[in-house]
Amino acid sequence: MSDLQHLFENNRRWAEDQLAQDPLYFKKLAALQAPQYLWIGCSDSRVPANQIVGLLPGEVFVHRNVANLVVHTDMNALSVIQFAVEVLQIRNIIVCGHYDCGGVHAAYENRQLGQIDNWLRNIKDVYHGNRHELEAISKESRRIDRLCELNVIEQVRNVCHTTIVQNAWAKGQDLSVHGLIYDISNGIIQDLSVCINDADQLSGIYQMSSKPFQKVKLAV
Ligand code: CO
Repeated sequence: MSDLQHLFENNRRWAEDQLAQDPLYFKKLAALQAPQYLWIGCSDSRVPANQIVGLLPGEVFVHRNVANLVVHTDMNALSVIQFAVEVLQIRNIIVCGHYDCGGVHAAYENRQLGQIDNWLRNIKDVYHGNRHELEAISKESRRIDRLCELNVIEQVRNVCHTTIVQNAWAKGQDLSVHGLIYDISNGIIQDLSVCINDADQLSGIYQMSSKPFQKVKLAV
């Protein structure tokens, strides 16, 4: 018997349950993908996006990776953001981190784990940029919790630094980017109060003009 057999059985039961509650469930779902939210979260199996905010399939567009990072060279994340903002016209992007994040823990330590070290380097950079605040926290577990929070805040900024989001704002699209953190120990999500909905809230160096490209003479 396949290792996946029980998954197929669960799936049949789930599909039957949905139809028992609403015979048109799948017809309605298939007809429309109009999610209100883009969720950028951690791949951690304990943080399932839809369930913890009580949303049904079709209501949230989801991107997950190790430690909920938004890296400006990651074509996967950028493609998700572009599709969500420009095609689905999503109004709210949520970056949701979580305490006890294995990726953040690994980045905090100095052990080599292989290829993933290059990914986790982004979190080390967050640590380095905030080292004075972090090293003033004496309790190590609290320091790592704070690093989880600061990592979310940094990723919120990274979403906003994309030309995708800034062009949407320039066109007058209503779009907010939020930073949240989930506590695995009690199931509660907290708002980190870093909502950004305007390019003016960004540091000047990251503000990108949306004026058409003009040829400029380069001095050589
Ligand atoms: Co995690």
